[in-house]
Amino acid sequence: MNAPVTDISRLAGDAIAIDPAIRLAGVSKVFPARAGGKPVAALDHIDLTVPRGSVLGVIGRSGAGKSTLIRLANGLEKPTSGQVIVDGAEISAFSERELRQARRSIGMIFQHFNLLSSRTAAENVAFPLEVAGTPSSEIKARVDELLALVGLADKRDRYPAELSGGQKQRVGIARALATRPKVLLSDEATSALDPETTRSILDLLGRINRELGLTILLITHEMSVVRAIAHEVAVIDGGRIVEKSDVFDVFTRPQHPVTRSFLADETGSTLPPYVAAHLQREPVPGGQTVVRVIFRGRHATDPVIARLAREAGIEANILAGTVDEIAGRPFGTLTIGLPGGPTALETTLSFLARHGLDTEVLGHVA
Ligand SMILES: Nc1ncnc2c1ncn2[C@@H]1O[C@H](COP(=O)(O)OP(=O)(O)OP(=O)(O)O)[C@@H](O)[C@H]1O
Ligand SMILES: [Mg+2]
Repeated sequence: MNAPVTDISRLAGDAIAIDPAIRLAGVSKVFPARAGGKPVAALDHIDLTVPRGSVLGVIGRSGAGKSTLIRLANGLEKPTSGQVIVDGAEISAFSERELRQARRSIGMIFQHFNLLSSRTAAENVAFPLEVAGTPSSEIKARVDELLALVGLADKRDRYPAELSGGQKQRVGIARALATRPKVLLSDEATSALDPETTRSILDLLGRINRELGLTILLITHEMSVVRAIAHEVAVIDGGRIVEKSDVFDVFTRPQHPVTRSFLADETGSTLPPYVAAHLQREPVPGGQTVVRVIFRGRHATDPVIARLAREAGIEANILAGTVDEIAGRPFGTLTIGLPGGPTALETTLSFLARHGLDTEVLGHVA
């Protein structure tokens, strides 16, 4: 999981690097005005590529344009302008008939599973194969194989009403894979599940990505989902991609305020309440400056605060801290209080910078 995407494209050769599984080029989508209303620009000049074999997480708030983006990627909507290319085919230019064919190479899973309630698990998985005209002798073997893959071999004759949410989503995943798609699109597929079930479904998707080499475009409003499975993340806000990078960089060097707000809980970058309640913009005479120190990769385990005391004679108070692992690399944040006014602050910031650490002055407390 979380192997750098560049490694995958290098392994697969240059041709693949320049022919991503999914490409949106200059895509805008404007929904016409309803009676009395204004037109809605749901997507505004989106350029986005998903390299073959990789997992891209798209995160955004409600109304940001996430579902519209995914509906364009499977041809359910046509862009107002721009191109949508999936597995080498410009699906935004396809007729309905061509789209029906193209959708066999695009699997889709949904928040509310969208299973047929009158069909058993096995019959739900068989459905896209029946539509594609697969001979019934082949269907049974394929369905058994798919149910085994998602760990539901013993539930083949159960109806959706007899299955848990996690089991229903496993049926949804098996159904999405039935026609051997090249890409899998997921719109909030874990949003209706509890955290433990979410984890098991994300593990399954990660395994499918690695073992079948399936490209996954995953829509979510939770950074924990991105962190668990994605190689890259794109942040969408107001119909625009405001930030896109690999997962480690977005988590450890978020550029956009929306990204920061999504991350606040996830990386421990929120302040402890007793500090937050007293934080002021202006220095407080005799008080402390509150500084966040960010440790990335190999620096995450440096005893730098001890060295600050020993080498620069500055005693920092530790207010909060976490050490964590993002995309397989260590990452930590430490919030410190510095007594001693502007000179001590200057000394500390340059000391930490010399040791390769990023800092952020958050404010002042008495
Ligand atoms: N068929 C439609 N007709 C008109 N407006 C639409 C249509 N579909 C979406 N919109 C508008 O486009 C914008 C983006 O909607 P979209 O469903 O893509 O958001 P989202 O990011 O998926 O939100 P959520 O997290 O709530 O699912 C919203 O302002 C929405 O009201
Ligand atoms: Mg949506």
